[in-house]
Amino acid sequence: MNVYDAERMADVLAAQGYVETPSIDDADLVILNTCHIREKAVEKVYSELGRVRENKAERARDGKETRVVVAGCVAQAEGAEIMRRAPVVDVVVGPQSYHRLPELLAAKSRDQAVDTEFPVEDKFRQLPARRIAPQRNVSAFLTIQEGCDKFCTFCVVPYTRGAESSRSVEALMTEARRLTGLGVREFTLLGQNVNAWHGEGPDGKTWTLGRLLRQLADMEGVERLRYTTSHPRDMDDELIDAHRDLPQVMPYLHLPVQAGSDRILAAMNRRHTADEYRRIIDRIRGARPDIALSSDFIVGFPGETDADFAATMRLVDDIGFASAFSFKYSQRPGTPAAEQADQIPEQVKADRLAELQAALERDRAAFNRSMAGRVIDVLVERRGRQPGQMAGKSPYLQGVHFDAPDDILGQMATVEVIEASAGSLLGRYLGPAGSVPDHATGIAPAPAEQPPSPQQRNANAA
Ligand code: 5AD
Ligand code: SF4
Repeated sequence: MNVYDAERMADVLAAQGYVETPSIDDADLVILNTCHIREKAVEKVYSELGRVRENKAERARDGKETRVVVAGCVAQAEGAEIMRRAPVVDVVVGPQSYHRLPELLAAKSRDQAVDTEFPVEDKFRQLPARRIAPQRNVSAFLTIQEGCDKFCTFCVVPYTRGAESSRSVEALMTEARRLTGLGVREFTLLGQNVNAWHGEGPDGKTWTLGRLLRQLADMEGVERLRYTTSHPRDMDDELIDAHRDLPQVMPYLHLPVQAGSDRILAAMNRRHTADEYRRIIDRIRGARPDIALSSDFIVGFPGETDADFAATMRLVDDIGFASAFSFKYSQRPGTPAAEQADQIPEQVKADRLAELQAALERDRAAFNRSMAGRVIDVLVERRGRQPGQMAGKSPYLQGVHFDAPDDILGQMATVEVIEASAGSLLGRYLGPAGSVPDHATGIAPAPAEQPPSPQQRNANAA
């Protein structure tokens, strides 16, 4: 979502005559768009501000002025404190107020140059139309929902991004239509709690995400749909059915579980058990057997015992994730878990993280290897690093590189996977999508062609 927000800030400033510079040395205006989710992310902001200050001093020697903005969730959480700690900062703007950037930049005093309100006016209504740079125009983010009411006890999002709010069907369809007109073929729908999205449809009924996906799949030009990040509690039947029924909905789902122990899940206020998560996964795999699953994990949550951590490892073995993100628990000011007395020592967190990541990496490598020899469709997003090379994404969100003629850029290509490396897949170009009969397109694969899930692989190995 920070990438999306950064693009929208560029849209606001483009209307003021600003253009993006390739290097910070050429920038009259520097914006740091920041993340508050873990302590490490916050520390990075202050160290980066140190670098920006040096840069500003150097430009000043050449008689050039540099203005500095801190945007995003650190701005939201720390407000004017950032200016006190880092005097180099001219403007502080939270994630709900960045449509006001021009006014804030014109502010007469430092007091007026801080905005961390959650304004009643709809930020999206105030933003100018999307202005997508041609090189990134086949795949676009679309924020459909912001904020969160779940209040997991470790998480700052409900405080920094505010209460859950959904954009209207009409606003979303208008933005999507404009983007497909600019050549966009894939949307990744965004929200901190994206599957909590709901809105009134043209039929007067309340729509949830499954229905919205259906509407977008019908839009001319839309070839691929993805969404992130979901909460297990909001995986309703209509959304799961969308994975079965809509070829445009890609077989990849990021569904954070955080931990495998019921005791820890309860302490986290996740509102589901490990077995409930397993059953949700069963239903999703029932609808779309080849789906690639991804998740987030936290190790070393306060009070986590060796037995609790072993339950997380069991869950990982049971599900077989195609990819995952995992983190050491980070104490966030103002969150309930930060107040707990039973914090876990740093070394224990580090050991558990290493063990978990080894298992996740094993499953990811197995999933990637299972792609070898498969024929898939790739949405070609950009040129690769080597001359003649193209790069894009598989249906399962893996990066794919292959040699192909230039005119396939921005189109869908059919590719045979030759080799699966740690980071990406190497492919052989077979032709534009649709020209190659009988292959798994990432669209409703024939059962015989599905890659074995890591779960099946584990079963085989056992
Ligand atoms: N400590 C560690 N990880 C966290 N996350 C959120 N808050 C914390 C925290 N306090 C992780 C969760 C979430 C992801 C976006 O960041 O796994 O899903
Ligand atoms: Fe944070 Fe996600 Fe929990 Fe909301 S659902 S509080 S964003 S971890």
